[in-house]
Amino acid sequence: MLKITITSTKGGVGKTTLTANLGALLADMGLRVLLVDADVQPSLSKYFPLAAERPTAGLTEVIVRGQVTATCITPTVFPNLHIVVSDDPEGHLPNWLLGRIDRGFRLRFALHSPVVASNYDCVLIDTQGAIGPLQDAALMAADMLVSPITPEILSAREFKHGTMELLERLEPANALGATLGPVKAVIYRQDRSADARLIASGIREDLTRLDGRVSVLATVVPHAKAYKEAATLRIPVHRHERRRDGVMPSASTVMHHLVWELIPSLKGVHVDALQLQELLS
Ligand SMILES: Nc1ncnc2c1ncn2[C@@H]1O[C@H](COP(=O)(O)OP(=O)(O)OP(=O)(O)O)[C@@H](O)[C@H]1O
Ligand SMILES: [Mg+2]
Repeated sequence: MLKITITSTKGGVGKTTLTANLGALLADMGLRVLLVDADVQPSLSKYFPLAAERPTAGLTEVIVRGQVTATCITPTVFPNLHIVVSDDPEGHLPNWLLGRIDRGFRLRFALHSPVVASNYDCVLIDTQGAIGPLQDAALMAADMLVSPITPEILSAREFKHGTMELLERLEPANALGATLGPVKAVIYRQDRSADARLIASGIREDLTRLDGRVSVLATVVPHAKAYKEAATLRIPVHRHERRRDGVMPSASTVMHHLVWELIPSLKGVHVDALQLQELLS
């Protein structure tokens, strides 16, 4: 089972959109996917409609009990796509975690629960764009970290300083047996300006110098209205924009390439129109 945490110390860069759409495409490809909303602002929990009217439990129980049980998981309306919802609107969990000596490992150990190991192929964890104990726990729980970077000068600086400092701070955990996953940066929401292209290539150069600790994916997610539209319709973007005329690739093409780059064993697996029709019927 593969666990991926979507992270950035910067808010509003596209973490939730990316988590939801990666999860939904993987689910349509036939993987059994568990989303975990580890942001106290529950955007991912509201992203797709849920199959249950009211979740029985969510992240609070997972963190406090240190275990995932079936009651903590809610199916979405999409096949193969389930979620541990965020249920801590007043933000008590980060404080609770601060008082625990095992705070960094709590989610990692919880995800070892049999209900996760036997029912899911992939876990995707969404985080809040800030630093704190819940973010640390989410980073330490993953095999791989995916970080969207908007090619704007402030985001690029924030990534270099914020995200890299965060990773350096957590690196001592390696000595405790929790190897921090490789970081895959995704140039995200790139517009068609020359400035954005220049900054994107600067980010690639800068990160290449970091001795392989961070790699920048070749796939670029463009700034496109399909992502917002799909979020409004509460459907996966690869279902919303399957084809597109013009130079920009469709959202479906972009998301497929992203999945293939992150999980090379899925290369060539394609959710085509026929499969979608079956899924929708
Ligand atoms: N590729 C894209 N093109 C255009 N707009 C996008 C794209 N991806 C996401 N957005 C929009 O950008 C906004 C921020 O996205 P999102 O909520 O996913 O960011 P976030 O990093 O999760 O934010 P937060 O830090 O608040 O949790 C949303 O309005 C979303 O619809
Ligand atoms: Mg978010």
